[in-house]
Amino acid sequence: MLSSHMKNLTHLFNHNRRWARDIEKRQPGFFAALSNQQAPEYLWIGCSDSRVPANEIVGLPPGELFVHRNVANLVVHTDINCLSVMQYAVDVLKVKHIIVCGHYGCGGVRAALENRQHGLIDNWLRNIQEVYRQHQRELQAMPATDAVVDRLCELNVAWQTLNVGHTTVVQEAWARGQEVRVHGWVYGLSDGLLKDLQVSLSSVDELQTLEQKLRGL
Ligand code: CO
Repeated sequence: MLSSHMKNLTHLFNHNRRWARDIEKRQPGFFAALSNQQAPEYLWIGCSDSRVPANEIVGLPPGELFVHRNVANLVVHTDINCLSVMQYAVDVLKVKHIIVCGHYGCGGVRAALENRQHGLIDNWLRNIQEVYRQHQRELQAMPATDAVVDRLCELNVAWQTLNVGHTTVVQEAWARGQEVRVHGWVYGLSDGLLKDLQVSLSSVDELQTLEQKLRGL
């Protein structure tokens, strides 16, 4: 028989009460003030991986980071979920920055490289295989699989950054003069550090330059 601990996950409620109490002790009225509105400056698009907790990595408290996470931090033009998050973040919350954050050793990226079936998720991972095909020559020349995975994690972020820039949400924001900058970062599971991949975009010109660079033109 399950203990009530496991049945009701009481340990998580205990953590939660302690967490809320600690914050309230440091900043009385914190939650009451936050319940009225949110005004985050950043939208984070990251991997669902449990080792990459968005707020903690960048040290931001509740209210300062709008978050969307999926397997391998993909921005797919037919994904109504991700696009809706982006639209709300840009049009309503007026975030100034969209951060696409991948991570080294991503299981989704690794699975996309394997020659075996994983079920439904293979349809999702197909998007990473497209990235691989764009950079096949560079990646095939690399000796170790781990190095290929890590390089593909970086390239995937760069392409997803481009995808963000191509969405109607960002295109329309730029067209009406709203400042939105898209960034591509990668996180190291083994050292906890972020790396800026220097693929950031804030205009159609920068978008075209990055696209040409990624396509090797
Ligand atoms: Co991942």
